[in-house]
Amino acid sequence: MKVAVLKGGSSLERTVSLRSGARVEDALARLGHEVLPIDVGADLVTRLQAERPDVAFVALHGRGGEDGTVQELLELVGVPYTASRPGACIRCMDKVVAKHALRDAGIPTPDFYAFSQAAFGELGAAKALPVIEERLDFPIVVKPAGQGSALGIKFASSAADVPNALVSAFSYDSKILLERYVPGRDLAVSIIDGPDGPQALPVVEAIPTEEDFYDFESRYEIGRTRFVCPADLSEELAARAQALALATWRVLGCSGFARVDLMTDGDDLTVLEANAIPGLTDTSLLPLAADAAGIGFDDFVARVLDLAVA
Ligand code: DAL
Ligand code: MG
Repeated sequence: MKVAVLKGGSSLERTVSLRSGARVEDALARLGHEVLPIDVGADLVTRLQAERPDVAFVALHGRGGEDGTVQELLELVGVPYTASRPGACIRCMDKVVAKHALRDAGIPTPDFYAFSQAAFGELGAAKALPVIEERLDFPIVVKPAGQGSALGIKFASSAADVPNALVSAFSYDSKILLERYVPGRDLAVSIIDGPDGPQALPVVEAIPTEEDFYDFESRYEIGRTRFVCPADLSEELAARAQALALATWRVLGCSGFARVDLMTDGDDLTVLEANAIPGLTDTSLLPLAADAAGIGFDDFVARVLDLAVA
């Protein structure tokens, strides 16, 4: 098949996407497909119309690539594509929308409150801070609603830290999520769809070696994070994490593949978010988990393509 690999783009996760895309291209070449690499820009539709690929592998992360935008274009041009449809991408990419959906579905997720820049501006910090204090117990985590790879995330141990954290978050997005900080271990459950339905892969634990937080650098620099797969959890807890990830997948309407991020503290599990196009780099979690389940990277790519054209 002629497979367009959509990568790069203009999001802040461009460099991550270039790495995911390169790895997918290598796999496609090994699988004997004709590879059409596309660094996504304004000429995307023209190129797709001129080249007429059989299918597009979307290896984009972040805004413009993982948020339903490119997926809508692909629908319009009529090129089948990998992973989630536009609606699921929107629900996953907007952490506030995702948290509402999780909470409504009874999936445990840390308490939260959201602010748009406009609402915050109207209230002013003097009035907004007491509202936040009333709604949430500290410490909290302040996150831009629509970013990935932990970009713009700041901790606030008390209301006094909030203004600085907000300045950081608002520089990445006009909507922010304030989330109760839950201590514990960082877990991830990747899911790959299949003919028999979605399959939850073994749980991965990410243990940063230097920072106390799994931030952007620790995600992509080899050696900055230790990954344990399968995570050292009781069978019961691992199965519960997988079941919660599958419930999250269903609630958000994902397809193809995705990764759900969770926290565990003792026996407690909470879902933080889902990623519609998780990283596929050599330090990313989905390929690692797939490998642990006996699904090599080429098998993963082949399976995802089959689903896209089915
Ligand atoms: N946003 C990055 C690519 C991830 O979730 O893996
Ligand atoms: Mg994410």
